[in-house]
Amino acid sequence: MKIFIETYGCQMNVSDSGKIVQLFADLNYQLTTESRAADLIIINTCSVREKPELKLFSALGRYIPLKRKRPELVIAVGGCVAQQWGEQLLERCPGLDIVFGTHQLDTLPELVSSVRDSRKAVSSTAFRMAPGGLEVMARPQPQAVSAMVTIMQGCDNFCSYCIVPHVRGREYSRPSPAIIEEVSRLADAGIKEVMLLGQNVNSYGLKEPGEISFAQLLGRVNEIEGIERIRFTTSHPKDMSDELIAAFASLSKLCPSLHLPLQAGSDTVLKRMGRRYTAASYLEKVAKLREIVPDVALTTDIIVGFPGESEDDFQQTLKMLEKVGYDQIYSFKYSSRPGTKAADYEDMISDDEKRERLARCQALQDSISQRLLKAQVGKVSEVLVTGPSKRGAGEWSGRTRESRIVNFSKPSSPEVEIVVGGLYKVSIIKALKHSLKGEVVADGNP
Ligand code: SAH
Ligand code: SF4
Ligand code: F3S
Repeated sequence: MKIFIETYGCQMNVSDSGKIVQLFADLNYQLTTESRAADLIIINTCSVREKPELKLFSALGRYIPLKRKRPELVIAVGGCVAQQWGEQLLERCPGLDIVFGTHQLDTLPELVSSVRDSRKAVSSTAFRMAPGGLEVMARPQPQAVSAMVTIMQGCDNFCSYCIVPHVRGREYSRPSPAIIEEVSRLADAGIKEVMLLGQNVNSYGLKEPGEISFAQLLGRVNEIEGIERIRFTTSHPKDMSDELIAAFASLSKLCPSLHLPLQAGSDTVLKRMGRRYTAASYLEKVAKLREIVPDVALTTDIIVGFPGESEDDFQQTLKMLEKVGYDQIYSFKYSSRPGTKAADYEDMISDDEKRERLARCQALQDSISQRLLKAQVGKVSEVLVTGPSKRGAGEWSGRTRESRIVNFSKPSSPEVEIVVGGLYKVSIIKALKHSLKGEVVADGNP
């Protein structure tokens, strides 16, 4: 049997897709990249904005007709759109067999066999105390250097624009021993870098009596032999504790890069977004962090055109980009999500206005990103090699501890052997648009 899977949305979804593939690999399914050859097609969806949500319907338009030639084909939709629409999706999309929610990942094999037996479409989207499937451990890809480990799921913050708490359920932290075991297994399989995942990792463990804090969890992961680098995402600025900031100084493997979603620079907008911090308190946390880790590279998420955002409010966002100096931003036009508080707000911003603000925001950021990349030229960075460079020409590709992409060549002499997963000292010689170019320094062996 063959399984084909298409994934939209965040890293959590990418990680979930890995778990689904693992569940079916245990049942002797093989992964295929050819939808026409598949016996089971899975679409793992995202509803954070309208655009990714719409991708589901064009995907179904491609895959449902395949059933004419392959009547045994089973098509399943999972993830956040599945959670949101449930059975209604089955009504709207004849030919779709299974809708499975974000807490039902582990029941998918049963749902598939029930559809095969009865040929009746099913929907299963109940929330559970602990989301099912969190303990399924995907085997890393051969040659993989990094792996993602989900440490918590769900969100209790209910930012007024956001659908995530509605579709992922309440915050749930996995027991720390299970996380440590998973990271140890990954290290044994040759993984060098772990990315700890959750919608709001800073509040890890706070709801579970007796559980360790997120900073303590990082401390435990730091002790695991074989792991060289630790990253995590996403952090909510309001929960960025002093204990976590201090961890950046005390934990040798914790990388100096942090994704800290700002969303907007205006306090009025932040308040209406329900973010529970101000521009000033955000800057204070950044200053504290930079005091401890001066070279920390920051990235962020920005929403432009939130309902009621004035030109002056928007200018405050641009000011924050200048003040913080992010390496990179992920910026989006506000998209109204059914069932969220902000969907009922007045003063919606026109699409033209949003587009124009987004373009200005991105143009400013491009110049900031370029300035920061250029400032790297002349420095020597530690690079973890992820593989040969896509541009070929005998070059290798990897990332610095700050998560900047570096393509580099070897010196002709002395001979240095480059291995995937190895750490090398690389001298940065040039800044390109989104990456750096470098050369391994003479004593660059791991
Ligand atoms: N848990 C993370 C990520 C949430 S979703 C966090 O708290 O930051 C990823 C990003 O999508 C958000 O940071 C936000 O910038 C964006 N986003 C969420 N809802 C949105 C909406 N309705 N319209 C536009 N962007 C949105
Ligand atoms: Fe959404 Fe806010 Fe939760 Fe992030 S913290 S997932 S933006 S509700
Ligand atoms: Fe999208 Fe769900 Fe992630 S809405 S961003 S896939 S949590």
